[in-house]
Amino acid sequence: MKIAMVGSGYVGLVSGACFADFGHDVVCIDKDQSKIDALHDGIMPIYEPGLAELVGTNVKASRLSFTTDLAEGIKGAQAIFIAVGTPSRRGDGHADLSFVHAVAREVGENLANDAVVVTKSTVPVGTGDEVERILKDSGTAHNFAVVSNPEFLREGAAIGDFKRPDRIVIGAESDFGRDVMREVYRPLFLNESPILFTSRRSAELIKYAANAFLATKITFINEMADLCEKVGANVQDVSRGIGSDNRIGPKFLNAGPGYGGSCFPKDTLALLKTAEDYESPVRIVEAVVKTNDTRKRAMGRKVVDALGGPKKARGKKVALLGLTFKPNTDDMRDSPAIAIAQTLHDAGVSVAAYDPEGMDVAAPLMPEVSMTDSPYAAIEGADAVAIVTEWDAFRALDLGRVKELANAPVLVDLRNIYQPDDVRAAGFEYSSIGRA
Ligand code: UGA
Repeated sequence: MKIAMVGSGYVGLVSGACFADFGHDVVCIDKDQSKIDALHDGIMPIYEPGLAELVGTNVKASRLSFTTDLAEGIKGAQAIFIAVGTPSRRGDGHADLSFVHAVAREVGENLANDAVVVTKSTVPVGTGDEVERILKDSGTAHNFAVVSNPEFLREGAAIGDFKRPDRIVIGAESDFGRDVMREVYRPLFLNESPILFTSRRSAELIKYAANAFLATKITFINEMADLCEKVGANVQDVSRGIGSDNRIGPKFLNAGPGYGGSCFPKDTLALLKTAEDYESPVRIVEAVVKTNDTRKRAMGRKVVDALGGPKKARGKKVALLGLTFKPNTDDMRDSPAIAIAQTLHDAGVSVAAYDPEGMDVAAPLMPEVSMTDSPYAAIEGADAVAIVTEWDAFRALDLGRVKELANAPVLVDLRNIYQPDDVRAAGFEYSSIGRA
């Protein structure tokens, strides 16, 4: 089966490479000539474990190709995926659908055969209807169906998530749409991944509801962590205690500095806008968004406290370990590290940082931070070390060396990757999240 993937960003490229690996014939299309040139040279536009190898193998096997020419790329494709960005619109937080609509128009004008047009981009309820209208207005003579197929990939684990999904959601309004999508996902169906067929609007909402629920779970445990610190409890025990109840589940109960990334912040905001438009408030999500926003700066203040409070902190230096919003990515979007560095800067604290993959992306976003080339270089002369992202490289720091290099043995562990007793036994003043 031939598949066209319009948009070769994170979702498009991972999905395209995985579909090719299943044996489909995939063309990834993008307007950005430099991105397509780089992909031809085997250079990935993003850091994702295993992606370069997967792309390489499938290009070699002639199942995966890249082009900037949409008309040519969609020719003969039975499924045309729209996987372009839907960023937060400046000013109001609505999802910006201009790229999705533009692709729909171009697809309509260039359709050369019957095809299913699939929105994979995260799009608000009703976008499928609009895409259908745009295709109809283009006057195409070919049959088409518009289907919603949201993706649930996590950055850093995207290939595994794609190949072994908990479920595949397909929102379709016609047998044509359902039949083609069944064929697209047949290799996964054989692996017994459940396919959930729903209406198009339900599928669109499932994506937002899933991300909002996960963001809520994280925010809930973060607030429990704050309470643990006040009442003398341990949030990791609380997580285990509640997570072993099947109805709650153990995942996404790690307390930390607040969620970031390209999805939760943007999608929760967009869901609030949809709820507002339909006059059907989602107050829990409103609270989650506010609580998470304020948490990031609160984490900066936590580091200031570890330096002895605002007065003593002025003029001191902090080493930030980890800048990306989570490990195994170079993505800095809405990373808590940005707000933490800003809060420290505002408090007159200088910051040196190290991140295994994110520093090139981070540097222009945090001009006040000096980037170093190893965790130990950042730690040299620091009055406190703060772990912001749980990269493996920070899980087994040589604490003796840290103590020698640092100006003071103070460790703030915002991801709870160390055991308090061990760190304190090594002579550190140690603070973490929700462990009194
Ligand atoms: C998220 C969802 O997990 C995916 O299912 C979804 O497809 C994706 O958004 C999307 O909409 O495209 P992602 O943003 O890559 O994936 O990252 P997550 O692993 O979900 O982490 C998000 C944030 O939550 C990170 O800042 C992470 O540190 C934080 N987090 C996660 C916690 O603080 N605690 C946890 O227990 C889990």
